[in-house]
Amino acid sequence: MSPQEIIRKRRDGVELTREELEGFFRAYLENEITDYHMTAFLMASAFRPLTMYETHTITDIYIRSGGRVDLSAIPGVSVDKHSTGGVGDKTSLLLVPIVAAAGVRVPMISGRGLAHTGGTLDKLESIPGFRTQLSPSEILRILSDTGMVMAGQSESLVPLDRRIYALRDVTATVEILPLIAASIMSKKIAGGAQALVLDIKSGRGAFMRDRSQAEELAMLLMAVGEEFALPAVGLITDMDEPLGLAIGNWLEVVEVVDCLRGRETRDLMEVTYALAGLMIYLGRKAASIGEGITVAREVVRKGLAFERFVQLVSAQGGDTAVIEDTLRYPNANSIVELRAPRSGVLRSVDALRLGRLAVELGAGRSRVTDDVDPTAGIVLARKCGDRVEEDDVLCRLYSSTVADLSMLRSNALKAFEFGDEDFPLSTKIFSYFDRDAIVPWAEVAPMS
Ligand code: URA
Repeated sequence: MSPQEIIRKRRDGVELTREELEGFFRAYLENEITDYHMTAFLMASAFRPLTMYETHTITDIYIRSGGRVDLSAIPGVSVDKHSTGGVGDKTSLLLVPIVAAAGVRVPMISGRGLAHTGGTLDKLESIPGFRTQLSPSEILRILSDTGMVMAGQSESLVPLDRRIYALRDVTATVEILPLIAASIMSKKIAGGAQALVLDIKSGRGAFMRDRSQAEELAMLLMAVGEEFALPAVGLITDMDEPLGLAIGNWLEVVEVVDCLRGRETRDLMEVTYALAGLMIYLGRKAASIGEGITVAREVVRKGLAFERFVQLVSAQGGDTAVIEDTLRYPNANSIVELRAPRSGVLRSVDALRLGRLAVELGAGRSRVTDDVDPTAGIVLARKCGDRVEEDDVLCRLYSSTVADLSMLRSNALKAFEFGDEDFPLSTKIFSYFDRDAIVPWAEVAPMS
């Protein structure tokens, strides 16, 4: 069937057969059809939701587009984690060494920045020499040697997700729940994970703006997991305000190093410890989620997680000298400070606006072929709920490609909303879900 006919059926909401989907996706991978055909198919899926059958089939086609990592010979339960994408969300870089230090094997397969959200691969590749394009056999070797590995989609691992993910990034076709589910679950299944923890972001800076969409995605991910026999649980977490202080690739690595060395950012580590607790519990190194959280805190406090991070960087070819001493890394060419126009209490900090600004500064892409500027981004000096005086620094903007950063000041300032009254800080974790139910997090881990 011609690509036009497949696109027409998709546009009209006619369910496609496995043969039709396989033919269309194979032709794309082999460059027999173009990005504009695929974009039309993806965009049609924004208006005509893919059925459950089509979602499972596309997930399967993605998985079989490359090799698969077989972890059955490795003892213990290998646990991966995935976030649906947020601004300043560097939890993956923290979780891998923390959970590995707790004795659980972590084979993590991640993606690049998508739209205004940052990508784990771009963050890792800001470390000079760090290799994320690994073959299934390299993934297996590094995992066997160190108990952890962080890799991306490649020519040999879910290449279809690699191509389509990059295309969705620049064609406004990210926020389509079945495509998100196929993209996430195919990476995890191909990467060989035996259990999965999901972090579904909800709020202004997330692809799921409201809680009901996040819950819908949670259930969809659970259904795909069940179809492919991958047990999964997860959290729905807040993404109204950027997570932590730094937004942008190397800037986020610096915050990770700080946190692993004991200078913890409160909201970032709240989410990290909760996810780590779930991973350690699923990996059978704790008898409960609460105990898993305690173990995670301990390995950070004792410096074991930082040691594991250095080991990870070394195993994947990265320069450990810049991790041991982050000041050795080159600074961005331009840095400007943004100062408070008035005194008051910071009522909100808009993650979407700052995520888009970080892309403009060079931290993300607007074309598939764009390189990212590893030094670009934003570092917050104040967070929601903080009291500020007029002229205090709110944040700093960094870029090596935008010559005149002062032009972006007024746009950046719109991200900060001021009030006068103090207010209590709320948790960043809304709920926990598994295949049976979605329940408030406070009921699952009251002491965390
Ligand atoms: N993360 C992914 O891996 N894929 C998506 O589509 C969204 C977030």
